[in-house]
Amino acid sequence: MLGVAGGIAAYKSAELLRRFTESGHSVRVLPTAAALEFVGAATFEALSGQPVHTGVFHDVPAVPHVKLGQEADLVVVAPATADLLARAAQGRADDLLTAALLTARCPVLFAPAMHTEMWEHPATRANVELLRSRGAVVLEPASGRLTGKDTGPGRLPDPAEIAELARLLLERASALPRDLVGRRVVVSAGGTREALDPVRFLGNRSSGRQGYALARVAAQRGAHVTLVAGHTADLADPAAVDVVHVGSALQMREAMHAAVKGADAVVMAAAVADFRPVSLVGHKIKKGAGDPAPLVLTQNPDILIELVGARETGQVVVGFAAETGDDTGDPLHHGRQKLARKGVDLLVVNAVGDGLAFEVADNAGWLLGADGSETVLGSGSKALLASHLWDAVAARLS
Ligand code: CTP
Repeated sequence: MLGVAGGIAAYKSAELLRRFTESGHSVRVLPTAAALEFVGAATFEALSGQPVHTGVFHDVPAVPHVKLGQEADLVVVAPATADLLARAAQGRADDLLTAALLTARCPVLFAPAMHTEMWEHPATRANVELLRSRGAVVLEPASGRLTGKDTGPGRLPDPAEIAELARLLLERASALPRDLVGRRVVVSAGGTREALDPVRFLGNRSSGRQGYALARVAAQRGAHVTLVAGHTADLADPAAVDVVHVGSALQMREAMHAAVKGADAVVMAAAVADFRPVSLVGHKIKKGAGDPAPLVLTQNPDILIELVGARETGQVVVGFAAETGDDTGDPLHHGRQKLARKGVDLLVVNAVGDGLAFEVADNAGWLLGADGSETVLGSGSKALLASHLWDAVAARLS
């Protein structure tokens, strides 16, 4: 079920709906009457292929509010306005959406969107807490430009982000716990780019998706998150996350050392270039005649090993290892060696190559602990892998 409440962000629900149907889900859209002031019922009917009603007096013999609630595997309300959150928190049933929310027994995800003042009002805060205490997932909104010229928290998170977290709720047996409230975590993501001249660089195929999923999931579990982002596949900044954009490994190193002070957990998911050109040419290297001069490279610092060396008491440090396996051993063997060599508390080992891990939506691997624990991370979304990792981090922090 996709509930749509009456806010200007209602237009983004059409994209969300499209993402759900294109990934194979059957979606019944339940807009409020106010939502239809913003987006016509025909849009939702055409994109979902299902009828759209706002009240409980259509198709009465089918008792739709009961049927829809009982049949749903997941309810997503996007946007959830202050009014909708208030009505849901109070258990009102004055339209089809709120009535169906009362009959649904599946996970429920609210994606709020409203002006900052409304989001921060004690009445809304109390409604959000009440809904969360009952097990609903109420996303933190994004910060940024609102309807007019004003900016602040209250923007609807990017539809891709809502879709990712919705899928996570379907994959995870339990709702997202708010177990990182009061924690500060730092995540690195994406690939670094090592400049050769003003227009060329050495890069890698990291999309940044795994690191962004880690940041998103941590923020929605209540953590204060700093994301140090290298180059990514044009990903939108996650909602409720402080993002520091960097280019090279040396810039990432500086940003990470600054960000990890006082942090409870640090996750290096970035694909840091191991080497950089010895010298950066200040002008575009011209083709000239004959073969170019060989590239002379030097090794970049290992940021993860530096962070382990500077680790504060109680800080949990996590690394990633992308391994293909070779004559000397399989990916897991290399992962075990890397865990010891890097000195991290946890290491996520991904098998890469042959369409695995890089530039794809899903991920699988192993989670190795310095305490000798080894957990298989079955195939699932990058958000699911992120969620398993935060489970392990949260357990170590407590
Ligand atoms: N890493 C880092 N700084 C580097 C290289 C890697 O912080 N200069 C981090 C990565 O972010 C990752 C972990 O180290 O968390 C392992 O990265 P990986 O590329 O698998 O390992 P390498 O140390 O580069 O070893 P190798 O390439 O020999 O497998």
